Amino acid sequence: LMVKSSLIEPDGGSLVDLVVPETQRAVKISEAEAMPKVKLTKIDLEWVHVISEGWASPLKGFMREDEYLQSLHFNCLRMKDGSLVNMSLPIVLAIDDEVKEKIGGSSGVALVGPDGDLVGTLSSIEIYKHNKEERIARTWGTTAPGLPYVEEVITPAGNWLIGGDLEVLKPIKYNDGLDNYRLSPQQLRKEFDRRQADAVFAFQLRNPVHNGHALLMNDTRRRLLDMGFKNPILLLHPLGGFTKADDVPLDVRMEQHSKVLEDGVLDPETTIVAIFPSPMHYAGPTEVQWHAKARINAGANFYIVGRDPAGMGHPTEKRDLYDPDHGKKVLSMAPGLEKLNILPFRVAAYDTEAKKMAFFDPSRAKDFLFISGTKMRTYARTGENPPDGFMCPGGWDVLVRYYESLQAA
Ligand code: ADX
Repeated sequence: LMVKSSLIEPDGGSLVDLVVPETQRAVKISEAEAMPKVKLTKIDLEWVHVISEGWASPLKGFMREDEYLQSLHFNCLRMKDGSLVNMSLPIVLAIDDEVKEKIGGSSGVALVGPDGDLVGTLSSIEIYKHNKEERIARTWGTTAPGLPYVEEVITPAGNWLIGGDLEVLKPIKYNDGLDNYRLSPQQLRKEFDRRQADAVFAFQLRNPVHNGHALLMNDTRRRLLDMGFKNPILLLHPLGGFTKADDVPLDVRMEQHSKVLEDGVLDPETTIVAIFPSPMHYAGPTEVQWHAKARINAGANFYIVGRDPAGMGHPTEKRDLYDPDHGKKVLSMAPGLEKLNILPFRVAAYDTEAKKMAFFDPSRAKDFLFISGTKMRTYARTGENPPDGFMCPGGWDVLVRYYESLQAA
């Protein structure tokens, strides 16, 4: 029985799905084998994954120059009917002079994974200049040295970008024991429908869940129930792609998140935990738009945003790279995201009077303790417990064990 879904429409109307049907796989493989090859890095492959499942819908491949320019200059793509969809990060594939030479006049290329396996193809390709400085300056608003994605991905990349229509030969898997959590937008939509969700609220994160994060999520649920929704479902959606070296790795975070549900900080009955396969840029207000847009495609119509989303410390100065309030302000005004309900939150911190995480009250600022990632690491390293009520004990244990293993190494 097909029940019409009541979920928010994906950007562009229908969800992009670029995985070749099994019946056509053999033919596609032999076609791909005859094409010039482009070798993907691990992070390129993460983007292939993202595009292929429709997180970036209506984008159907790595960006051609027109799409790249729209993304870079307008943070949006214009649809044929004149409407705008948000697309704040350029999703591009770089190649070097040698590969460009080998491609020659071919209209398609085969994509080869970091392990040497055939992953998919790009067709109707276009090759254009990769002006790295301009891309970096426009995406991050700075070219300061030490931006993690720039150092890891852009600086070592080639001086050309190749765009075209993507097809992948089979679903992207990582075989790291976490593939079960990697639900595609289509699978998430099915699950929300199965659970008869009448509202879906997404929480993007790349850090362990502390009780301040939980406060945002639980407060949202209460607000949605007050608004009259009967069955709001939380999508707890940790980012699974590239993160910077001092962030907690995905496997540890997933274990920590499980404890948060086991310890009852979040309600397992009304929460879905899944992995968002995108790499992290740490581009603050520019990137948070991407984070939100991708969740529309996964069926979320509410999006939680708090302090300094997708932000980090300035790489060379002692300050935040972005104004911590700008992420939520930009998101609330972002073109192409009008249909998404943005739920902006004040900063949460440890209230030493109430002995719990609470929304920061500037009138008694001295009662609040801000526990940064660095501070958390110091607690864990010195074997000191964070104040009671900062994080559930099960979740904290997972982090202590991780930081201990770092020290031992
Ligand atoms: S992010 O890169 O995924 O944005 P993080 O995992 O730290 O980083 O944050 C997840 C979400 O929680 C973001 O919406 C962020 O704004 C919010 N957030 C993180 N810490 C706090 C805090 N102390 N108070 C309020 N919101 C917060």
